[in-house]
Amino acid sequence: MSVFAYRDGVLHAESVSLADIARSVGTPFYCYSTAALEAHYRAYANAFEGQNVGVCYALKANSNLAVVRTLAALGAGADVVSGGEMRRALAAGVPASKIVFSGVGKTRAELRDALLAGIHQINVESIPELEALSEVATGLGVTAEIAFRVNPDVDAKTHAKIATGKKENKFGIDYDHAREVYARAAKLPGIAPVAIAVHIGSQLTDLAPFRAAYERVAALLHTLREDGHDIRRLDLGGGLGITYKDEQPPELTDYAAMVGSITGNLGCAITVEPGRSLVGNAGVLVSEVIFVKQGLHRRFLIVDAAMNDLIRPSLYDAYHGIVPVEEAKAAAAPEPYDVVGPVCESGDTFAVQRPLPPLAPGDLVAVQSAGAYGAVMSSSYNTRPLIPEVLVKGGAFAVIRPRPSLEEMLAAERMPDWLAG
Ligand code: LLP
Repeated sequence: MSVFAYRDGVLHAESVSLADIARSVGTPFYCYSTAALEAHYRAYANAFEGQNVGVCYALKANSNLAVVRTLAALGAGADVVSGGEMRRALAAGVPASKIVFSGVGKTRAELRDALLAGIHQINVESIPELEALSEVATGLGVTAEIAFRVNPDVDAKTHAKIATGKKENKFGIDYDHAREVYARAAKLPGIAPVAIAVHIGSQLTDLAPFRAAYERVAALLHTLREDGHDIRRLDLGGGLGITYKDEQPPELTDYAAMVGSITGNLGCAITVEPGRSLVGNAGVLVSEVIFVKQGLHRRFLIVDAAMNDLIRPSLYDAYHGIVPVEEAKAAAAPEPYDVVGPVCESGDTFAVQRPLPPLAPGDLVAVQSAGAYGAVMSSSYNTRPLIPEVLVKGGAFAVIRPRPSLEEMLAAERMPDWLAG
């Protein structure tokens, strides 16, 4: 059963009514469930039980400190893609020894901070990055344990903007050049190439592309070992999809069995980097209907959340379920609505011609599956304050990021001398 369910006629997160949270913090807001985060993490841990697999949560999906700490407390490590995310992971209690640093454009300052923090592994994506890292590491007198992220040229069969494993994508080093690159790395001071990393894309709903990529990684491992490299770890990336509408992502147990069948006898420690599948369906975005506007051809449900709060529908044409918070409303016969926000762009649309029960100003709706790539991708466009994030645990809830006041927003800016006064 979902942790988001109707109780006594109102949609709850665990034992807390979303309507109560709305009265307390105002709308719109994100609400996450601890029970869901824990269940999703445990599903990974259970599926990989008996295998030498560590789960490094991809912070980019939702980097709120309380969310990261909830997962870290269960044993999760972290996959970070910036110095900022590394700081968050450490601040949330992830030990440095469980942090992996990915990304195509790490700065020297970020590489230095990562080495000083003593993180587990840096996933290098290019020769220039390798050279920079070698210089920074030798300057500090340390050796960086690295993976190269290889680009296996596999079609992840997902949205073009979140596919990363094809030759034409900016990510990783070409599979065909991997031998040369590892040979070069082995000669550089301050560098220990000990791992291979791969990540082919996000929201994958089929195991086949994963399998193809992992088989290529296993083949490369054998070649590199023949070349004399001591490769001890594989980082298999994230990407397992979730159900937004009617997608049927692979079962975690099947994914884990596939990983085991390919890597089980390679003698490597394995890392996986899930983001979305841990947090996506652990969160909803709650919004209030401002107006219902009858256009010439369309009926618009104008809600108080917008593209700046949740950009996925605008950016990827992503589907998110939308349900009334009041159960009685949900029972009424649906009519098609275009669900839109107040931002001054036509792209500020959550759903087009979506069948919804009749709704009126003041009604609350929950936008589902909003725990991943929601709050983290939000902005204050149109001077709309970042919306609060709330974490529920059982019958309790806490604001884990408050809504800034307009005063705070304006106070963050500065007048140059020539305009002051
Ligand atoms: N590891 C690496 C190196 C990644 O680039 C990503 C995601 C992950 C792990 C986690 O992937 P996940 O398990 O969450 O699929 N904003 C987009 C998704 C971008 C994903 C970027 N990389 C969206 O809203 O769909």
